[in-house]
This record gives sequence, structure tokens and C-alpha cells, in this order.
Amino acid sequence: MIVLGIESTCDETGVSIVQDGKIILSNVLASSADIHAKYGGVFPELACRRHIETIIPLIDEALKQANTTPEEIDLIAVAKGPGLIGALLIGMNVAKGLSIAWNKPLIGINHVEAHLYASMMDAEEVPLPALGIVISGGHTLLLKVNALGEYETLATTVDDAIGEAFDKVASLLDLPYPGGPQIEKLALKGNPKTVSLSAGKVKRSPLDFSFSGLKTAVLYAKKSPEGYLREDLAASFQQTALGDVVKKSLIASQKFDCKALIFGGGVSANQKLREMTQKAFPKMPIFWPRPFLAVDNAVMIAALGCKKFKGISDSLELEPQTRMNLS
Ligand code: KG4
Ligand code: ZN
Repeated sequence: MIVLGIESTCDETGVSIVQDGKIILSNVLASSADIHAKYGGVFPELACRRHIETIIPLIDEALKQANTTPEEIDLIAVAKGPGLIGALLIGMNVAKGLSIAWNKPLIGINHVEAHLYASMMDAEEVPLPALGIVISGGHTLLLKVNALGEYETLATTVDDAIGEAFDKVASLLDLPYPGGPQIEKLALKGNPKTVSLSAGKVKRSPLDFSFSGLKTAVLYAKKSPEGYLREDLAASFQQTALGDVVKKSLIASQKFDCKALIFGGGVSANQKLREMTQKAFPKMPIFWPRPFLAVDNAVMIAALGCKKFKGISDSLELEPQTRMNLS
């Protein structure tokens, strides 16, 4: 089964061809992060323009690199949401167009579920139930994973997503977008104990996340008379934000018979997070995405499409959804 996957939920246009849900024949990506760098975050209209310019050339490139013809494609999988509406519409309409032109079935895939699946696609077996942890620029979610397609939301963020907080703090520290990898790099030179910070508490639902206060605290610390070093601010912020994820994951995992952790999303590429998690869960099997599959990509869309396809195409009436719940 050869699947062509399309990803265009946010600022990355991705096209990938995956065989039998595992073998990556090609994986091409165009990012508009360079445009957003000026603004410190994603500028939706500009992201859409870049999707329009790049998507067809990327499809050609993906076919070429995979040495595959359209006739050999068995299925077209597209991220149907959640994401930016304009961005989603571009991927969706191109996928529908290809489905008609090539006479191939179509399947819409939930981008968040695909982030989790990126960690599972190579695994022989994932012990279940597991705790799913999706941490990206758009999402901060703890989920009980009962089975593929069967999720219960345990926690979410009440304000900023964790990746968004990394991006905003990076911008405060004059680091370019996307800020996560930049903060991680700068934090290596800093001392996380220098600045006293704490993650937000959500009284009515203590497992939920809140990062907007933490970001403001970094701003005040930066302006404070103590004159903290940027690397110390980066290290302290990173330790606090990641520590909050690890702590809440531990609490969430104790609420049920959790047999594994499954990570997904851009922030799960962070090495410090991997060390902290390993320490907090010494005996738990942990499924991490390969770093290039942690951030947005179309491999995860194609792979999950392959897994979910049951022989019947989604309708051409399929509409993208800006918001989608997994449970
Ligand atoms: O999964 P992703 O590409 O897009 C969304 O679905 O949102 O995640 C992008 C986010 C950005 O906020 C970026 O700063 C963050 O993931 N990120 C990181 C790292 N790499 C990417 N955050 C912390 N450490 C990293 N190494
Ligand atoms: Zn994503």
C-alpha cells in the first residue's frame, strides 16, 4: 500500500510517500518559518501564501524522490485539522483534486492523532492503555490512549500551548522563530536555578496547563535590576515549563493502569525533556518520535492514513476543521 500524505495545518507544507505505513519513500517539507521570524509567531495569511506556492512543486518532488508515479499511489491522506482554516483548505483542496484527477481514494487525518502515531509507526507493539503527551506549538494535551482512535482527554492548556510559550520567550530573548530549538541551545550554557519561576496553576482543574503567566514572569525577570543572563533565563524557563509537563504526566499516569508513555509534537524533540522524563519514569516504556517526525511533517499523516484506511474513500464533501477533539 503506497500512501501520499499531505500536511498543511500551520506553517509547514509537507508531502510524503510512505509504503505499508512504515517505509518512508520520500518526505519533503517547505517551511514559512523564515517569514514568521520577523513577527515572533505564525502570520496566518503569509503561511497560506507559501502553502499555495509550494504544494504542487512539493508533490512533484515527493513523487520524483520516491521514484513513484501517480498510478502507483493507492491512497491520498490529508491532515483535515485542527489548524489554521486557510492553511487547511489548501491541503484539503489539493488532496481532493488529486483524488479526482488520479482516481484514488482519500482519507482525512487528525493532525494531533498523527503526532502521537509518529512515535508508534515503527513500534512492534505499544502497551495499552498509555499516556499520550502531545506538546507542540498549537497543543498541550495529556490523553489516556485506550486504543488507536480511542482517547480520553485528561488535561489541556487554558491559555498558551507549551511550544507557543517557547516561541514567545525566545522572542523576548531576541532569538528567532521557531524558538524551541533556540531556547534549548541557549539553555545549555545557562543555570536553570538562577531565576525562580513557576508554571501556572489552574485551580478548578489542577492537571491543566497554563503558560502565559510564566512567559510574563520571564519578561519581568529580564527587566529586573538583577540583570539576569539570557542563558540563565532560557535555562530557568525551559526547566520550569518542561518540569510542569513531566510532573503532570506523572500524576496523570497514576490515575489509571498506565503501561507506556507516547510523546508527540515539536517540543518532544527537546533532549532535556527526554532526560527529565527518563529520570521521572525509570521503568516505563517511553515512545518518542524521531526528531524529524516530532515537528510537523507529512510522514505521520501518510502512515496513519495507511493504518486507518478500511477500503472506503472519504467523501469529497470532507471539510477541514480548525478545532477537533480526540475524545
Ligand atoms: O509539532 P509542531 O511542528 O507544530 C504544531 O503542531 O504546533 O511544533 C512546533 C513547536 C514550536 O513552538 C517550536 O518552538 C517547538 O515545537 N519546538 C521545540 C523544539 N523543537 C521544536 N520546543 C522545545 N524544544 C525543541 N527542541
Ligand atoms: Zn503539529
